[in-house]
Amino acid sequence: MDPGIRSQRIKKIYAGIEEEAEGEDGDKEEWAGDVEVIIFLNATEPHVDRGFFYITGATEGVFEGAVAAIYPDGNGLLVVSMLEEETAKKTGMPLHIYKDREEWKERVREALGNPGVIGIHGEELTYSSYLKIKDLYPEARIVDVTEAVSHARAVKDSGEIERIKEACRIASRAAETVVEAVAEGVREHELAAELSYQMQKMGASGNSFDPISAFGPNSAEPHYLAGDRAAKKGDAILLDFGCNYKRYASDITRTMFLGKADREQREVYETVLHAQQIGIDAVEPGANGADVDRKVRDYIDSTPYKGKFIHSTGHSIGLSVHDGFAINHKIDLPLREGMVFTVEPGIYLPGRFGVRIEDDILVTSNGAEVLTTAPKDLLEIL
Ligand code: GLY
Ligand code: MN
Ligand code: MN
Repeated sequence: MDPGIRSQRIKKIYAGIEEEAEGEDGDKEEWAGDVEVIIFLNATEPHVDRGFFYITGATEGVFEGAVAAIYPDGNGLLVVSMLEEETAKKTGMPLHIYKDREEWKERVREALGNPGVIGIHGEELTYSSYLKIKDLYPEARIVDVTEAVSHARAVKDSGEIERIKEACRIASRAAETVVEAVAEGVREHELAAELSYQMQKMGASGNSFDPISAFGPNSAEPHYLAGDRAAKKGDAILLDFGCNYKRYASDITRTMFLGKADREQREVYETVLHAQQIGIDAVEPGANGADVDRKVRDYIDSTPYKGKFIHSTGHSIGLSVHDGFAINHKIDLPLREGMVFTVEPGIYLPGRFGVRIEDDILVTSNGAEVLTTAPKDLLEIL
């Protein structure tokens, strides 16, 4: 990663700590200016900190046990295992290499000195990693800077947007090609496998989450995942999936029907599609995520499907598929150019079917760009 970009990211995090301290959190005011170093400490897979990759920009490497330390002046350093030394070198950051657990402690102490106030990314730090930091620095004050890290990550720079766009392009393409595999008798897990395979073949490193492939009544459960139901005529086929490309996520949902959609299925589909457009149209810099959710929810609640939209309108995406913020009427989230999030209303009729339509949206200088472009017209597979 360009050192200038890294330095901007680091400074954005430290500026966020100061900004929040100006808010109402009295305790934070006390230590906000004192944080000497922020430590991102990875545990073992899958408990590696996305913040570590925000700082390093590394696209390869596992980095279990690795430390990224960042400083208020915009500089940083890494303590990494010899197992990914070559990948670590590509980051251009100062390196401290360890070869085993014993050496890990020594290298961390040597690299970090003896800081008095340490920031941690509590959101992604495991408890045992926290204890390791306590053990190394029993005298230090340890403070959680998660909010500042999340806020910094919420607004993407051009390199991040490029990666997200490619992740979205791959997922959109998979949404189009998977239609060929939808037929009577195909099982939910087969379509999930097909999506994963297609995306990885197109350059993704893997899924951004386990695909949801839900047929018929299973589609009425938003977080169903995938079972072994065989598709039957009359089923709604709900596919919610995404990939990681150079560590950045996409997230898309398309719902289609096997056979002719009945009157209710058609009405629900058109209602969700219209609700989604209301959400997308509401996105512009200066708008608030809470209002986007309210507009979508109010519209659905004005139809016969009142109360059947049972989750948030969306969530930010980035290094994680759920990248820190929800688009929800209870959450104040001023929208800024460079933010990327999903707009994904749904209507769920338990025991019958559900419809969700989800796209990834970039806030531009004057509105919104839809990054997932797979078609959304009602699709009946006859
Ligand atoms: N896969 C769950 C979601 O779309 O947020
Ligand atoms: Mn999704
Ligand atoms: Mn989503």
